[in-house]
Amino acid sequence: MTKFDLDDVSANPSTAIRFNEVVDHVSSRRRFLKTGAGVGALGFLGLGATKAFAAPDEPSRVAKQISLAFEAVAPNTEDAITLPSGYRSQVINRWGDPLFSYSPAFKGDATDGGEAQAMQVGYNHDGMHFFPIDGVKGKAGSSTEGLMVTNHEYITPHYFFPKDVVPGQSNWNEDWVRKSQHAQGASVVHMRLNAQKQWEPVLDSLFNRSINANTPMAVVGPAAGHALMRTKADLSGKLVLGTFGNCGNGYTLWNTYLSCEENFTDYFGVGEADPAKAEFIDEDHQAHQQRYKGSSKAADDSYRWDTHDTRFDWTQEPNEANRFGWIIEIDPFDPHSAPKKLTALGRFKHENAAMTLADDNRVVVYMGDDQRSEYIYKFVSKRQFNVDTPAENRLLLDEGTLYVAQFSSQASAEDADGVGKWIPLVLDTPTVEGKKLGDLFESMGELLIKTRQAADAVGATPMDRPEWVAVHPVTREAYVTLTNNSDRGRDKERWPGGLTHPGVDGANPRVENHYGQIVRWREAKGDPAALTFDWDIFVLAGNPNLYNDSDPRRGSDNINKGNTFNSPDGLAFDAAGRLWIQTDGNYSNSGVYEGQGNNSMLIADPVSKEIRRFLVGPKGCEVTGITWTPDQRYAFINIQHPGEGPDIANSQSDPTAVSTWPDGKEATRPRPATVVIWREDGGVVGT
Ligand code: FEO
Ligand code: CA
Ligand code: CA
Ligand code: CA
Repeated sequence: MTKFDLDDVSANPSTAIRFNEVVDHVSSRRRFLKTGAGVGALGFLGLGATKAFAAPDEPSRVAKQISLAFEAVAPNTEDAITLPSGYRSQVINRWGDPLFSYSPAFKGDATDGGEAQAMQVGYNHDGMHFFPIDGVKGKAGSSTEGLMVTNHEYITPHYFFPKDVVPGQSNWNEDWVRKSQHAQGASVVHMRLNAQKQWEPVLDSLFNRSINANTPMAVVGPAAGHALMRTKADLSGKLVLGTFGNCGNGYTLWNTYLSCEENFTDYFGVGEADPAKAEFIDEDHQAHQQRYKGSSKAADDSYRWDTHDTRFDWTQEPNEANRFGWIIEIDPFDPHSAPKKLTALGRFKHENAAMTLADDNRVVVYMGDDQRSEYIYKFVSKRQFNVDTPAENRLLLDEGTLYVAQFSSQASAEDADGVGKWIPLVLDTPTVEGKKLGDLFESMGELLIKTRQAADAVGATPMDRPEWVAVHPVTREAYVTLTNNSDRGRDKERWPGGLTHPGVDGANPRVENHYGQIVRWREAKGDPAALTFDWDIFVLAGNPNLYNDSDPRRGSDNINKGNTFNSPDGLAFDAAGRLWIQTDGNYSNSGVYEGQGNNSMLIADPVSKEIRRFLVGPKGCEVTGITWTPDQRYAFINIQHPGEGPDIANSQSDPTAVSTWPDGKEATRPRPATVVIWREDGGVVGT
């Protein structure tokens, strides 16, 4: 990964090999031993194309096989969007495009400052959702007009600033900090299909909005007002300025948007202090931040907001970081509403939020914590969703139970499929050391602020960097992308403090996992509120260009030289049950990634497990975020960080050296943007 992949560090000093890992380790060793006896490893991993869950109890919840009739796209390294024949695309909502009729025009030399950026589309688009303008759930709504809400995750300094401006260096100033702060968060853009069948922003719409690192937000849920949430500027602990690191997204059954704060620790520094000597304010604070930051040093990180905004200085304001790492809820239809930070859903490096309904109509939200060897969580609301009480529905995410997943293999060495359980993160829950969580945390507020530490204490299973979760619209089976994990199974010396990295287990079956996998689970009796689940591996990504059938790096049987990919990340089901997989992997197309090309998007059939490549992105990008119009005749995806990668250093002299996407020969630099995709014949996209 490049140095700019901010997800790709680790902070979990998993202190011991836990019992389930010992069992899994033994069984995985046996699997590989049997491989040596001449039986295919993939057969023993249970990854054959015919392997699937037993049918759910309820016949109405059986998935139908879907057809993938489009012509598969081959891997490539073009600086372009490649689609199957018969498809067209249009670029919209580029970084710097106007949000309002009075917005300053984008200047390609990027000399616009913070004020201009607050009136323009932000940088590095990620999760996204199309809200039909007349939309209420249960009614399809418009497929030609709606509110597009888009996350803007971070900025790539090489392309975002003039080339002589480097964060924290000589000509760095307060306005560059504001520009960076205003380009991150989320944008709301009212979009319409015009008479020429092109999508365009409605620039005089009252809905258009920049939600950024300085937008006031309310804190709700059990951690609101906790002492660890209070700062010099906010003695209430209930009013936070802004959001950043907004990665994947979710949306609710009541027409609001969920934005997920991921790599929030990267925004803090040590201000005027000497970085070599700077300390956290005290030991408790250090131990807590270390578990999130992955380092015991109160260092200066990438964005250098601490230089002109003291709340981002670890040594000045110990609690500001506790106010980030949450999921926020945005009502796009009320442009004056303050977004809410939902503390009941836990504090970690949130990837996305996938909502579904339990059998009794409680709301369930699945979430991944994207850092090496972190966990998978779910939230179950206390009260029930009721379509007739919309005001009450808006409080459903304020109160409920947060659970963390423990995956175990079955005892059988022949089968990597397993069982798992959801462990409630409440004060009564026993810890692996025979205490209770209530002995470690004085209140649910403290526990939720320290969600990772609570999950550590109950023996959650460290996963290979959980990215997006998606729930099948019919079966309610949940799928998660585990993107990669270069730490898995490494030896002690490579882990700070001489501690042990997690070993392999059934759901994370490879050491130093370059390629990633997609794991899926079905809850007991198919009910998302259940406390136990069955799981299997849907696809183990790999590279058949380099490895033969007996090597687990080849990937599972549903991987071939045509659809090979690495680092699955974005993941979503469309209404028909097609699984859309987006990648955020290596840009080199060489070494272990040979023949895999640029990052891409693939579509899978959950029944047959067939996977076909649908799109290849431009150079140095990741493909992320996906949403559709209700009629599914338009799909929208994001191209994030075009032009990153190993050659980015060349951009110091020429910002177009790696990529000129999407502006082509007119480009002064690459620009993150949204791409709309449709079929020439007007049919449903992806069929
Ligand atoms: Fe922002 Fe884990 O991707
Ligand atoms: Ca990324
Ligand atoms: Ca991601
Ligand atoms: Ca990623």
